[in-house]
Amino acid sequence: MFPASPHPCPGHLTRREWLKLGAAGAAGLALGPSRAWAHPGNALRLPPTWAGGSLVVQPANLEIWPGTLTPALAINGTSPGPTLRVRAGQRLTATIVNQLVGENLVLHWHGLLSPAAFDGHPGQAVAPGQSYAVDIPIRQEPATCWYHAHTDGLTGSQVYRGLAGLLLIEDPERDAALGLPTGARDIPLVLRDWKSNITSSLTYAPTMFEHMWGYLGNTMLVNGTPQPWFSVDQGVWRFRLLNGCNARVLRIGFSDSRAFHVVGSDAGLTGWVEAVTSLDLAPGQRVEILVSFADLPVGGSVLLRSLAFPIVAPLSGPAGPRQGDALDILTFHVDAAGGSTSLPASLPGPVLPDPAAARRTRTFNLGLVSGTHTLNGLVYDLNRIDFTVPAGEVETWDFVNGTANYHPMHAHGAHFRVISRNGVPAGLPADRGWRDTVLVYPNETVRVAVRFGGRAGLFVLHCHNLEHEHEMMQNFTVTVPAAPTLESRREGADLVVRWAAPADGWVLETSPDLRQWETATGLPALVGGGWEWRTPATGTARFFRLTLP
Ligand code: C2O
Ligand code: CU
Ligand code: CU
Repeated sequence: MFPASPHPCPGHLTRREWLKLGAAGAAGLALGPSRAWAHPGNALRLPPTWAGGSLVVQPANLEIWPGTLTPALAINGTSPGPTLRVRAGQRLTATIVNQLVGENLVLHWHGLLSPAAFDGHPGQAVAPGQSYAVDIPIRQEPATCWYHAHTDGLTGSQVYRGLAGLLLIEDPERDAALGLPTGARDIPLVLRDWKSNITSSLTYAPTMFEHMWGYLGNTMLVNGTPQPWFSVDQGVWRFRLLNGCNARVLRIGFSDSRAFHVVGSDAGLTGWVEAVTSLDLAPGQRVEILVSFADLPVGGSVLLRSLAFPIVAPLSGPAGPRQGDALDILTFHVDAAGGSTSLPASLPGPVLPDPAAARRTRTFNLGLVSGTHTLNGLVYDLNRIDFTVPAGEVETWDFVNGTANYHPMHAHGAHFRVISRNGVPAGLPADRGWRDTVLVYPNETVRVAVRFGGRAGLFVLHCHNLEHEHEMMQNFTVTVPAAPTLESRREGADLVVRWAAPADGWVLETSPDLRQWETATGLPALVGGGWEWRTPATGTARFFRLTLP
């Protein structure tokens, strides 16, 4: 969904002409100078990379169907918005400018472990004409994160109309060393549904039924492209999939049931290279997959789809799109021979919290009370704090779904590990690694283990079906215990930093300027009832602090 002017538009066909061409199976459209290939449909668009500075949110007419302008909301002129690319150790600094008409706005950095002040809590929304700044240190592994509107009462409406984009924490050198495809072979796919039958509009107008079950579209947009195709060679490609739908659960698979390999989930690599033929991806979730086209001839093609699945409840209006519908996502055309076919044999994975170390269990009942979605019997109240979590302690959280609907549960402020589903140890490829969003199936109980780091303040836990979000949500605060006091002394040629034990989980960080902090390399040793960390003294001033990662 890019603005009309800079996007190369194939001959400005009307939608009807375009459809005629598509239906006739025409050889395709000339797609501008950068594309050598021509296929029916539209060449997959790739969101531009953000240059830094500001993110300006405003209404825009986007050329989604070639030759047709669709009123939408855009970030720096596009939807999805520009891809923010950052690296661990850097900072995400941005000014968010609300140029919407009559609507408040705040952006949330979904998957990023942000200080509460910049997290995009619904209460942080600013009025039209206002702007605000964020400055977030990136202190986590490379991951496919995203950002989207999170305005109190308007999240579903603003995201549906276009306010979302990717936020990639990258390390291409690490990825290349691990044998993962990088650069032009590492393709982000922002997946969302829309109601393209309603005059191709992104109007958000849920009926009472849709308000309850979710606002579902009848076709997909990939990076804002309708009926997209993408040109590949016969090698292995990496795709980062984001389910950016308001409410639709996607069952990712291929038209020929080919196997693909899952290597990453919400917050980075899972540590598994796992072959599957389908995978459920809930709204808000991300997955990184490796796909080989080595078995297809040049000239061959295969379709990425959301496969049909059975549903229990109606989950759609009488004639509307239904949850579980089969939908086409993206056609891959093999246009060139060759390409590297090697798959990494193994990949490093994260160290996840041990549920045996949990200090407490919290239960979250997901309910439906006379047409309203509830969390522990309550509807969200912006001004009510529902619970408090001490940082640094492992907890288990049980999501108990007493409804016939799907609830992708998402926590801000921490990632978690999926432990079990209905008491059975979690074994789905979709449950591996760090997750920030877990799909709770109808009438299912899912247990996760979570441990919050040292980011104190107000966060939310909510269902990522965005029609449920503003009801099925709770506020919680994270409290951080006082850090043990640091002492330092010179000992010969060494500088020794010491703090009292026991103080588990604290990590020593060092900085030259109190601004850029990095983890002090080398482990502290237990000496006489305290932790001691030692380094050769350099003569330059350095600062130290303890943090709870
Ligand atoms: Cu992606 Cu609070 O949400
Ligand atoms: Cu989030
Ligand atoms: Cu829900």
